[in-house]
Amino acid sequence: MFISEKVRYVGVNDRKTDLFEGQYKIPDGISYNSYVVFGEKTAVMDGVDENFADEWLKNIDEVTGGKAPDYLVVLHMEPDHFASVAKFIEKYPCATIISNSRAFVMMGNFLGKTVNFKKVEVKDGEEFDFGKITLKFVFAPMVHWPEVTFAYCPEEKTLFSADAFGKFGDLNSDGPWADEARRYYFGIVGKYGVQVQAALKKLADLKIDKICPLHGNVLSENLNAYISLYNIWSSYDAESDGTVIAYTSVYGHTKKAVELLAEELKANGETVAVYDLSRADSSLVLAEAFRYDKLVLATTTYNGDVFPAMKDFVNALVEHNFQNKTVGLIENGSWAPVAKRKLTEMLSVCKNITFTESAVKILSAVNEENLKEIRNLAEELGKK
Ligand code: FEO
Repeated sequence: MFISEKVRYVGVNDRKTDLFEGQYKIPDGISYNSYVVFGEKTAVMDGVDENFADEWLKNIDEVTGGKAPDYLVVLHMEPDHFASVAKFIEKYPCATIISNSRAFVMMGNFLGKTVNFKKVEVKDGEEFDFGKITLKFVFAPMVHWPEVTFAYCPEEKTLFSADAFGKFGDLNSDGPWADEARRYYFGIVGKYGVQVQAALKKLADLKIDKICPLHGNVLSENLNAYISLYNIWSSYDAESDGTVIAYTSVYGHTKKAVELLAEELKANGETVAVYDLSRADSSLVLAEAFRYDKLVLATTTYNGDVFPAMKDFVNALVEHNFQNKTVGLIENGSWAPVAKRKLTEMLSVCKNITFTESAVKILSAVNEENLKEIRNLAEELGKK
């Protein structure tokens, strides 16, 4: 695929994998992006998943006319990109791998001691001249692994951004970029907002016309919109005003309360998104919780604790650094309700969480008192 006279796409689409990283549903597949940069020397930028190694090598052959590349630049070591590199080394034993010291240690761990290759180690901020094409290496640790590096090509005003600005969905999938980019970001990188902020600051002075990520489309228009979303996401600000209601319900009574709350909120002109945690894609609900400024958790007490699907969800929120949000709670328990207390304790480690004063306590089924509590909760959320 043509990116420019000097940059070609040689990545692959994956429609076979059902769960990315063994946990994220990818109904529209995913792409593993790789590029070839043509200076006087030729550099391949990153590899692909090992199941697509042959297709990748064929794509490289097509754009190079069968001439062996001089370099392979490894910006990210994770196997969805690096696992094919053993085959690259086998095919192109004279190629030199360019990466950083941390990545080379990892390469030794992944490949073992018997795979040998030529290497050039670059430092943060260092430029490498390929002859009429330059790459400046900008370290971006923990976006998403510690060795991650961006590469900026000033001649092409192009940023090779590793996992940053990536998304789920292969290159044939449509739909708004932000939806699958948000789900990807919060699932994969969301915990590391501080590190993403640091990386974005390093890019601030670069003139960027194109972003070439390792997953999803090459971005070439309206880049400020994408960068602005990354700024919001990584600073844990809410992207939109609205309430996400995430619930579990065993016999339908908690669900009834959730439906009543959603109706009240909508009647008050609020944006509401409702998810049943036992059925919804948990990575989508996670991303939605970060997207909106308010979250309501509605669940039952179960085995003297929180219902399992809710417990898993809140653990995921905590693990991904959930913060800066207003949270309302609806609990249901037939004889010894503890869900509200347990959820409050679980979220107590999160920064800057404001619990609503209003809460709903259901004893088995929604009663008249609960209707008042639901109206109060809706009213309070509407004021936030
Ligand atoms: Fe696409 Fe962090 O690997």
